[in-house]
Amino acid sequence: MSEHENPHGLDWDERYGDGQLWSGHANEQLVVEASNLEPGTALDVGAGEGADAIWLAERGWQVTAIDVSAKALDRASRAAAAAGLAVDWRAIALEDLENSPAASTYGLVSVFYPALLRGDGTIIETLLARVAPGGLLLVVHHSHVDRERAAEHGFDPDDYVRHKDLIAALTDRDGWEIDVVEKRGRTAPEGPGAHHHSDHVLRARRSG
Ligand SMILES: C[S@@+](CC[C@H](N)C(=O)[O-])C[C@H]1O[C@@H](n2cnc3c(N)ncnc32)[C@H](O)[C@@H]1O
Repeated sequence: MSEHENPHGLDWDERYGDGQLWSGHANEQLVVEASNLEPGTALDVGAGEGADAIWLAERGWQVTAIDVSAKALDRASRAAAAAGLAVDWRAIALEDLENSPAASTYGLVSVFYPALLRGDGTIIETLLARVAPGGLLLVVHHSHVDRERAAEHGFDPDDYVRHKDLIAALTDRDGWEIDVVEKRGRTAPEGPGAHHHSDHVLRARRSG
């Protein structure tokens, strides 16, 4: 299925295939940014196979994890169950959250390597609305976009929410403070993400 036939972009169940796709380790930028936070409620958007949500749950966070791929979440929930951890896994697109019980606000909204179609831009508002007053938004993108590789996988990176789209939406925005905008080296795991060696990290706080 092409991204044009799927309202949420790529066919992620197909991409997740038959075996584990990602490393199974928590993202190092999550570890850097969240290790010293007081646990509260967290929403992991595009949680994939769940390593980040599981890492947060291990540290006492009450985590809701959403993803369009039921296949990825099935792996995630089995990994959490094996570790004796409870995470609220929801096979739902961010775009469709509005009328779901998960359309609450959260002390931490984490989005690692998002694949969110930009559309008319309302998806960014949907994302920001999930952050509670006083809460944090943490978004990490790969800093290098390999357009050739993207084309081979059947998508155009410009169709998706980029690091700079979020910065533009948050800059000088009432009730928001951007704390961190940084490019950081990445210890690339083996597997499909191994060609990415640096990240763009965005951390912003909602004040009210
Ligand atoms: C590049 S993967 C990253 C997965 C995970 N965050 C990680 O770092 O391993 C992007 C994830 O976003 C999910 N996704 C794509 N579109 C989405 C949407 N509209 N709402 C929620 N999740 C979405 C995909 O199924 C996929 O699991």
